[in-house]
Parts: sequence; structure tokens; C-alpha cells
Amino acid sequence: MQINLIDKNITDIKADCEIVLVLEKNLNHKWIKDKNTLETVGFKGKSEECVFLASSNRVYSVIDSFQNDDIRLGVASAYKAIKKTTYKTVKVGLYLDDESSARSLSEGLLLGSYSFDKYKSKKDTTSIKEVLISSETYNDIKIDINFIKDSVEIAKILSACTNNTKDIVNTTPYDMTPEKLAIYAQNLAKEIDELECFVGDEKFLENEKMGAFLAVSRASSEKPRFIHLSYKPKNSKKRFVFVGKGLTYDSGGLSLKPSDYMVTMKSDKSGASAAIHIIKAAALLKLPFEIHAVIGAAENMIGGNAYKPDDVLIARNGKSIEVRNTDAEGRLVLADCLDFAQDLKPDYLFDLATLTGACVVAVGEYTSGVMGNSTILKREFVKSALQSGELASSLPFNRYLRKLLKSSIADMSNIASSRYGGALTAGLFLDNFIKDEFKDKWLHLDIAGPAFIEKDWGYNQCGASGAGVRMCVNFMINKAKESK
Ligand code: BES
Ligand code: ZN
Ligand code: ZN
Repeated sequence: MQINLIDKNITDIKADCEIVLVLEKNLNHKWIKDKNTLETVGFKGKSEECVFLASSNRVYSVIDSFQNDDIRLGVASAYKAIKKTTYKTVKVGLYLDDESSARSLSEGLLLGSYSFDKYKSKKDTTSIKEVLISSETYNDIKIDINFIKDSVEIAKILSACTNNTKDIVNTTPYDMTPEKLAIYAQNLAKEIDELECFVGDEKFLENEKMGAFLAVSRASSEKPRFIHLSYKPKNSKKRFVFVGKGLTYDSGGLSLKPSDYMVTMKSDKSGASAAIHIIKAAALLKLPFEIHAVIGAAENMIGGNAYKPDDVLIARNGKSIEVRNTDAEGRLVLADCLDFAQDLKPDYLFDLATLTGACVVAVGEYTSGVMGNSTILKREFVKSALQSGELASSLPFNRYLRKLLKSSIADMSNIASSRYGGALTAGLFLDNFIKDEFKDKWLHLDIAGPAFIEKDWGYNQCGASGAGVRMCVNFMINKAKESK
């Protein structure tokens, strides 16, 4: 679907259909031209109400406010109401006289129209080819169209990269093994000149002494891959490193998951998929930062050579880990990848992982947990995340939880001795692999909830949502604005 900005009033634009976003209970605006018909069909103007009037070729979608996410939601449900029609072109007005509306309208449409039909013999099709965004604002304030052009470009890149992430996460474990994920990253680097890609195999992991990562991957016939993508623009102002958990399948290992919990574990590569597309978006947006994506890709399986509860592993930084549960595998892979990441001397070090079911219990399935040692950085990150349309909530470490990872045989255990606060104890486990100089530069983003949900929600479809991409890229966009 094409999205184009048109420097004309809405009535002067020719299109097959018009989307009208209605402010809750404000039915007197000039864009609402079908008041009588709306009344006849029982339209009340209540939050999230959406009515399509084929007779006038208009679709009315009610939103709570002109805030970014309300616009995304409103335009996405309007799209949903007309996607099966024969319309080819659609028009919509601009709401606010700043960059935010054009970006949110575009994102709502591009994210809301995603579908994953790779495995369906009958593909999902729509006749809608083009959406025209008028420069006419809700309050008739004249805007300079050049001022908002960039925001549509940003939306296109962010939405495409988020949708690419959904594709990778939705792909089955057979079709997206660690090796295939590495090939995907290599192909991306071939496609985008500014990106470089290094892929390391088991030999590399051995040379790097990544004992924790190696143990997790050992029982699978699919061999692990270490993936390192980098983007180094000349004008770089800061260095960002994104570390991604890339478990292309998590069966739980010998601490095997019950059948009901195993389904959807193809989504355990969500952190890695997000990291790959964060760097892709950054390169396409030409952000003035050096960026690295460091990914541990493996399968957590069972077999005669599987790592076991009771094993003691030596991580890349020399610390020993008692394995008490092989299903707490993500933190083991991340421990080694985070240690590698710090050799790159980041100014910001963020890891993305579907790390714990406990995080989903703590903040609900729609929200990512943000953990780290710097309250300021966490607060700043959550703000950017919410602005980007992703829900995120800060979770606080404390000294008592830290003690729960003690082991009698090794430097630490891979699970806590209490079942409470599991998202935080997983985050604190990772903190053991963060050197003092990076303590305040590091954030752990637990995306276990929103990365994959088996129902439609908001403008997200059943399955993967591409969690992590928009919030991380938006954080960098805001940082780039600050450094201008
Ligand atoms: N990949 C899972 C976490 C997960 C759960 C992601 C649900 C998405 C949805 C992770 O590897 C895991 O199994 N964690 C365990 C940790 C426990 C053994 C301490 C969990 O959350 O139960
Ligand atoms: Zn697990
Ligand atoms: Zn896992």
C-alpha cells in the first residue's frame, strides 16, 4: 500500500473512499457529512466505534484523542472495515498541525494492514492500493507540507521493519533455524550497503569460550550461530549495541515444557528478530550512530548430549553458573552475548528477549518490562517507547532479589530460589555479566508478553507484533534530535 501526502484540502482530493476519525462525542465537525445516516444506523460516537457507510463511501472511526496511539488505532480499524471492498484509493485528513499525526496515520495503516499468509494456500488480498493524506488539519491550521514529509518516511521505514520482524517471528522453527536466521542477516547486509555481517559457528563460540551459549545449543541437530551486524556511519555520535535472544525454538530442554506451554515457542527468537530490524531501520533512516546487533541464535532441545540440571557452565567472562533449570536458557545465551557486546564499548547497551513468563504475569501480555540500574535511563526509555506506540513499564531491581540467585556450588544459579519476581531475578542474573563501567548504560527489555499474542489486539494481528523495533528506534531518533 502506497501512502502519499497531498497538499490539498480533503474535499479537493479524488478518492474512492474517505476515512474520518471522529473525536469521541464530537459529532459536529465539518468532516462528519453523514449525520443523518449515522443516526439511522445507531452511531453514537462512542470510543472505538467504527461504521462503514457504503452509500456515501465514508468510514467513521471514533478515537479518544489525537494522541499518537489513538490515531493509529482509529485509522487501523477504519482500514479493517473497508479492506474487503473494491476501493482502490482512500483519503484521510490530517489531524494535528505537527509531525505526529502524519506519522501515526501512516503507521496505523501500514501496521494494521499486515497479514501473515506464508503458509495459507489462499492469500489475503485487498484492492486498496493508495492512501492519500490531505494537508488539511482538524482545526484548519495551515501547515507546511515539507515539514511533515519526513515523518511519513520515518513511519514507512519503522512499519516495514516492524512487519519484517513479524514475518521472521511467525516463520516456523523448521523454516527459521539458527543457520537460516544467520543467512537472513547476511542477505540483509548484502542488500543494504551500510550494513556488515559476521556469522560465527560452533568453532567460533568455542574460541570465544562462550560455555553457557554452547551448552544451551548442544542437544539440537540445528547448530548455533553467533550473528553480528554492524552499521558505522562516518558522522557517528554515539555507539549503540542491541543484543537479541535468538532461540529459534525453546522446548525447555530436559526441564521440558508442558505441551500447552511449548506451542508458540517459535517466538523465542523475537529479541533477535527485533535487533536485526532495529539496525536495518537505523541504516535506512541514516541515524548518526554506530550501531551493532549481537545475536545468539540456537535451539533449546533434548537429546543424549543435552545440558542438564546440575551441570556447571563457565561463561565467557569466566563466571560459573549452576544449571538448575534448562528452560532458563535465554539468560545463558545472553550472558555470553552481553559479555561480547561490552568489548564493543557501547554508550548504550540494550538487550531484547522473550525472557520470562513472569514478566507477562507482572505487567500483562501487552507490555514489555524495562529493567536496569539507571532509573533515569529507564524513565527516558519508557517515555520513548510509549510515544512510539509500544507499551513498556519500568520494573525495579532490589538487593534482596539479587541474593536469590546464590548457588552453593557455583558463582550463581541460573534460577532464583523464590518463585516470586521472576522477571527481575532474570534481569539480575544478566546484571552479573555487566561490567561496572556499563552498569548505567545497560537496559534489559523483556518482551515476552507483546512479542507474540494469539489474538488480534489494537492494530496488531494474531501472532507476532514486532515488539521492540519501534521503541528502540524511536529512542535513537529522539537521541539524534537531542544531539543536533
Ligand atoms: N522463553 C521462555 C519465556 C517465555 C515464556 C517467553 C512465555 C514467552 C512466553 C524462557 O526461556 C523460559 O522458559 N523461562 C522460564 C524461566 C523459569 C524456568 C525460571 C519461565 O518463564 O517459566
Ligand atoms: Zn526457556
Ligand atoms: Zn526461552
